[in-house]
Amino acid sequence: MKIGFLKSAHAAEKRFTLTPSMVKKYINKGATVWVEQGAGVSANISDEDLEQAGAHIHSTAAEICSAVRVVVSMQLPAAELLKKMKPDAALVGPFFMQRHPEHVNVCAQYSFKTFSLELIPRISRAQNMDILSSQSNLAGYKAVLEAANIYQGAFPMMMTAAGLISPAKVLVLGAGVAGLQAIATAKRLGAQVSAFDVRPAVKEQVESLGAKFIEVKSEAASEDAGGYATEMSEDYKMKQQQLIANELKKTNIVITTALVPGKRAPTLITKDMVNAMPAGSVVIDMAAEAGGNCEYTKPDECVRVGTVSIAGYTDLPSRVAPEASKLLAQNIFHYLSPAINGKEIAFDLDDEVYKQTLVTQGGEVVHERFKQKES
Ligand code: NAI
Repeated sequence: MKIGFLKSAHAAEKRFTLTPSMVKKYINKGATVWVEQGAGVSANISDEDLEQAGAHIHSTAAEICSAVRVVVSMQLPAAELLKKMKPDAALVGPFFMQRHPEHVNVCAQYSFKTFSLELIPRISRAQNMDILSSQSNLAGYKAVLEAANIYQGAFPMMMTAAGLISPAKVLVLGAGVAGLQAIATAKRLGAQVSAFDVRPAVKEQVESLGAKFIEVKSEAASEDAGGYATEMSEDYKMKQQQLIANELKKTNIVITTALVPGKRAPTLITKDMVNAMPAGSVVIDMAAEAGGNCEYTKPDECVRVGTVSIAGYTDLPSRVAPEASKLLAQNIFHYLSPAINGKEIAFDLDDEVYKQTLVTQGGEVVHERFKQKES
């Protein structure tokens, strides 16, 4: 049974979905691994290293798509590749179907199964497959490094003979996976860190990293049964805006990560708040792709308003491509592994993980969330 790994079709996406050590693991499970030539180079993974681990390098994606039972790709492959796939094949990758509903309809034109990995449920059994967590963790780290590069001040306090340099004040909005790593990274660099989240449950985690937790007192539930944030009341939002406005007046760097699943990212930083920030401040808006947490954010740009810089980079994991690829490759191996049965592949569709990630099969949209969208 052959599994094929395609090269990213976008130059800006430097991550790859396979590493030499994962090649060996697939082979140990009885699979044959086919890789598109040069697919790992942007993540410092050479064809030679993959070949040495046992992979077969092929010069075109078309050759791979027409021969394998599983195609793994960072993006939805082009139509001419999809057409070549076998009817009983599976297409696997982080296709972000909710952000690109048009992808659902494209896949539904074919018989093969499409599995979209961002839909992996956040259950404990699936932690080692959770691509959102592994990539957000690195993105939170990289966000702080990008901020440190743009910011012209120092992060740590420095006592020098010439005088004292005060530590940078960092505020992290949203203390989920990315936010917690941003807090930890900013602390390691010596900044004074505070954090805010609508879920009071994260207070302890924030404090255990040595940061100050700032909170809006509220009776309303801010978390759903799955532990995700829910949309907040108007009264709460007003109190929150006031609190953030006051904090921002004394903050040099803000990392925003606030996200409510399936919704546009909440606006937490208005233009007026940015205008009142100290000179030279930096906002890294990690939620740029979902609409942004700051009113000035432009996706994939770093805009300057007065002396304040607002960066809406959406490719933070790709900026740490070798490490991000390592984690991604492990996540994908853990995801596919239970379906690889000797030389065969069989996805158990009663298994919650496959059931919740299967979007199309047999020429139909089968995922409840996207079926509703269609009607
Ligand atoms: P997560 O779901 O673990 O965390 C989001 C946090 O935001 C949660 O703790 C939630 O309670 C909080 N939140 C929701 N509404 C809020 C509000 N109104 N005020 C304050 N906090 C609020 O998500 P994760 O994995 O940490 O990702 C964070 C963001 O980073 C997402 O928008 C994600 O799409 C984005 N991301 C961006 C990348 C990039 O390259 N820019 C890469 C990876 C993730």
